[in-house]
Amino acid sequence: MITVGVLTISDGAAKGERQDVSGENIRALVAQLPDAVVSAGAIIPDEKEQISATLCEWCDEKRLNLILTTGGTGLAPRDVTPEATKVVLEREAPGIAEALRAASLQYTPMAMLSRGVAGVRGRTLIINLPGSPKAVKECLEYVLPVLPHAINLLI
Ligand code: MTE
Repeated sequence: MITVGVLTISDGAAKGERQDVSGENIRALVAQLPDAVVSAGAIIPDEKEQISATLCEWCDEKRLNLILTTGGTGLAPRDVTPEATKVVLEREAPGIAEALRAASLQYTPMAMLSRGVAGVRGRTLIINLPGSPKAVKECLEYVLPVLPHAINLLI
């Protein structure tokens, strides 16, 4: 069984001002992974400490296999997801983040604006995805076939 956490990072969605379509898209795509189950989910604001604390809890206490975050990877002043993620990572996996950006450029040049990172804490793989529902779908569809092997290497 692959346990997955879906962390939506968005001031608007956390306040209930808009629907978490990106989180819903992640859940729908994760359902295509064999033996995967979403066992943690949260919608939190763009607050660095809160993001890092949630990631730590899901890695260290829930011991999830995979955490997918969405949002907060761009250049806006409140976009702090990459910084909050780097604080908790023990080992970065830059190839994943680079591949997502490269694959995304076929859809939009704006893909170069995402600063998302990926890496490992303990036995958990963490991947930052951009915030828009469209970006989430494009990125996750690309990385999905790699995930079973990546997760296997961490067990
Ligand atoms: N990647 C893909 N595949 N598709 C997209 O539409 N949008 C980009 C980029 N990555 C996009 C994408 C845009 S417009 C921005 S601003 C950055 O992701 C950062 O988004 P975020 O701040 O919501 O995380």
